[in-house]
Amino acid sequence: MAATSEEALMWVEKYRPKTLDEVVDLHDIVESLKAFMRNPKTMPHLMLAGIPGTGKTTVALCIAHELFGQNWRSFTLELNASDERGIDTVRERIKDFSRYSRTGFGNIPFALIILDESDQMTGPAQTALRRIMEIGSRTSRFILICNQSSKIIEPIQSRCAIFRFSRLDRQAMKEHLQCIAKKENVKLQPEAAERIVDYSEGDLRHAINALQTASAYREGGIVDEKTVSLVIGEASPMLVQKMIRKALYGDFMEARKTMYDIMGSYGFSGSEIIRQIQREIFKMSDLTPEQKADLSNLIGEYDYRLTQGANSDIQLSALLAQFARFGKSIEESYATK
Ligand SMILES: Nc1ncnc2c1ncn2[C@@H]1O[C@H](COP(=O)(O)OP(=O)(O)OP(=O)(O)O)[C@@H](O)[C@H]1O
Ligand SMILES: [Mg+2]
Repeated sequence: MAATSEEALMWVEKYRPKTLDEVVDLHDIVESLKAFMRNPKTMPHLMLAGIPGTGKTTVALCIAHELFGQNWRSFTLELNASDERGIDTVRERIKDFSRYSRTGFGNIPFALIILDESDQMTGPAQTALRRIMEIGSRTSRFILICNQSSKIIEPIQSRCAIFRFSRLDRQAMKEHLQCIAKKENVKLQPEAAERIVDYSEGDLRHAINALQTASAYREGGIVDEKTVSLVIGEASPMLVQKMIRKALYGDFMEARKTMYDIMGSYGFSGSEIIRQIQREIFKMSDLTPEQKADLSNLIGEYDYRLTQGANSDIQLSALLAQFARFGKSIEESYATK
């Protein structure tokens, strides 16, 4: 019971789509799948592959709902390849399932086997799975879910229609967050939504979790950019870039002041700030790849010092000083050209 009520409190579960129409973004995938649903006999084994939090498990469950309606549980076996103790357990459970489940429902001549995290299976286990799929394919359809399709052996891949899930569209994610916020009576400011989406890098689970945590933080139900920054443990990227630029353009004292602003107003640790400096450097289009590489080297060294227990303020100041020196050397190299 406890787990159920906890799940109900988790917005990712509460707002997990029940039908393919409710799924965010993924238009092409949904359209192809719907075509299969209209004529289930044509449905091949499926492989849903791609980055976390983009709807693979959700889509697999929607397919089960859409095929079997309320009875979906009787016709669907959900297995987690990494949870189970090896392929023998998987084989046994599939065998039992095929034996006891009614194969077929209305005009659907098969039951559904959803195998999540299938890229966690070892090579031999996958070979065994291939056999299971061959034997079972008259009475079952498999939906294999994985992060990397390349980790699945070729003979299995070639038996499946592969659907690739990439980062979800930013706009679609923002709209979905606003929609959830509205239902939860939370006022989500546009800049805050923007930050959540930036941070989540196309992973909607991550985004919804960040929104839920940020909402819990603030009384009055308003989620602003600052709250999001605190929740996700990242200072405003604008501020971090400002600090980097000040240093590179030789204004070390100003850069250091910005560093203290960031540390003071957010209370981040040195390594958190260093990680963000690294990220922002790679976003800066005015630096060449070589310059980014050199700066990464510097960052790596200071990151290491922090892991060894060195003082954050001092090391970050020293890193900014190195940046200033580096900026100067770039300037000099331009001057001599
Ligand atoms: N495309 C989507 N449309 C609507 N909600 C989504 C979508 N993708 C993810 N979500 C939300 O994020 C949660 C997690 O999604 P899901 O479990 O489908 O991710 P996944 O792709 O299977 O990730 P993983 O690879 O980590 O297993 C869902 O419960 C849902 O709230
Ligand atoms: Mg999943």
